[in-house]
Amino acid sequence: MMLIKGVRLYGEGDPVDILVRDGVIAEIGPWLDAASTQDLTGVEVIDADGLVALPGFVDLHTHLREPGREDTETIATGSAAAALGGYTAVFAMANTDPVADNAVIVEHVWRRGREVGLVDVHPVGAVTVGLHGEKLAELGTMARSQANVRVFSDDGHCVADPLIMRRALEYTKALDGVIAQHAEEPRLTAGAQAHEGERAARLGLAGWPAAAEESIVARDCLLAKQTGARLHVCHVSTSGTVDVLRWAKERGTKVSAEVTPHHLLLTDERLATYDPVNKVNPPLRTESDVQVLREALAEGVVDCVATDHAPHAPQDKDCEWSAARPGMLGLQTALSIVVETLVRPGLLDWRGVARVMSEKPAEIAGLPDQGRPLVVGEPATLTLVDPHARWTVRGTELASIAGNTPFEGMELPGVVRATMLRGRVTASDGKVRP
Ligand code: DOR
Ligand code: ZN
Repeated sequence: MMLIKGVRLYGEGDPVDILVRDGVIAEIGPWLDAASTQDLTGVEVIDADGLVALPGFVDLHTHLREPGREDTETIATGSAAAALGGYTAVFAMANTDPVADNAVIVEHVWRRGREVGLVDVHPVGAVTVGLHGEKLAELGTMARSQANVRVFSDDGHCVADPLIMRRALEYTKALDGVIAQHAEEPRLTAGAQAHEGERAARLGLAGWPAAAEESIVARDCLLAKQTGARLHVCHVSTSGTVDVLRWAKERGTKVSAEVTPHHLLLTDERLATYDPVNKVNPPLRTESDVQVLREALAEGVVDCVATDHAPHAPQDKDCEWSAARPGMLGLQTALSIVVETLVRPGLLDWRGVARVMSEKPAEIAGLPDQGRPLVVGEPATLTLVDPHARWTVRGTELASIAGNTPFEGMELPGVVRATMLRGRVTASDGKVRP
């Protein structure tokens, strides 16, 4: 048993105590150590004075790099970064080596996640064999495997062929799953290095036009409407995509969307540094895109935050811009960026944070025991956040093997004090508890 003392649920109302028994929230109330009906001698007490309790965060978009690039991240180190960031479940993207396009690989990732035991690791299955975009992977076999795959994505690549995308939507509908699309029309982004606009032009970098994203999102919304299947749009980065999503949702399309922390804060102004730590796909866009994305998330047109946590080795980042790989770390900084960009400006309250970082992603992925309300009888899967504390990001101090954070040296608000998965503390005071 465990007693969490003096915490404010969703940052609302007076502080309460939470009694956790057998992995479940057993009682909630003021001064439970006096009022509880249970014998509390010997119970572990967590002092949560001044902290906010939220349901554990769920990341729909994490690159764990195992198998294949264990020099940059493993399921163990990525799980640690996740627990320290307040996450209790992550979706491991399929662009590993070998690709997670079959039952053997997804079961391996799932089993390794269970062995590590810090967060629930759900493998994402590839949509097409080898991420080549040509032949559908065995979606049904992955769905029926022990890993119980329900989210499919070729992330890193777009499922560009409209007929393959249509078939994939039809299959996943039958499997009660969802396709998470990396929306990027490859014919429009050949050689792309940065957001297509004035800043890239000045540096002579080939651009990723906004329309490369928006045209695929529009096409896929039409296909989702036609098939009645569920579509999830990965890392929305432009205001035009928000317009398309709004239009599609208004006419009843089953579409959801995520935005990354970096697209909520950073802009292509970072190009001026010419530091490849800022290279990411989709690229950092403009100030007005950032503003529209924040408002769209607050309003619900964009449903949730997903990190696109993408560790890379030093040799793939500390090189010239055009040779560098796209991607940035995200798991341990996500909450702080959400606090900085949405909570502090008054666009989201803590209920809203619970919605975009836990409830919505759990719902999109169909997880029955994550993103649950903090009430008696529900799993004690939660995160304790200090809303007033600040911390300074140091890539070398993060749990990931790679250190490619674009937030290096920034002082950010919001510190995760503890993370609990079904009643077990997985991280507290900056350390994991395996
Ligand atoms: O920046 C990115 N990095 N975008 C992607 O779509 C893939 C990811 C990666 O795997 O590094
Ligand atoms: Zn992607």
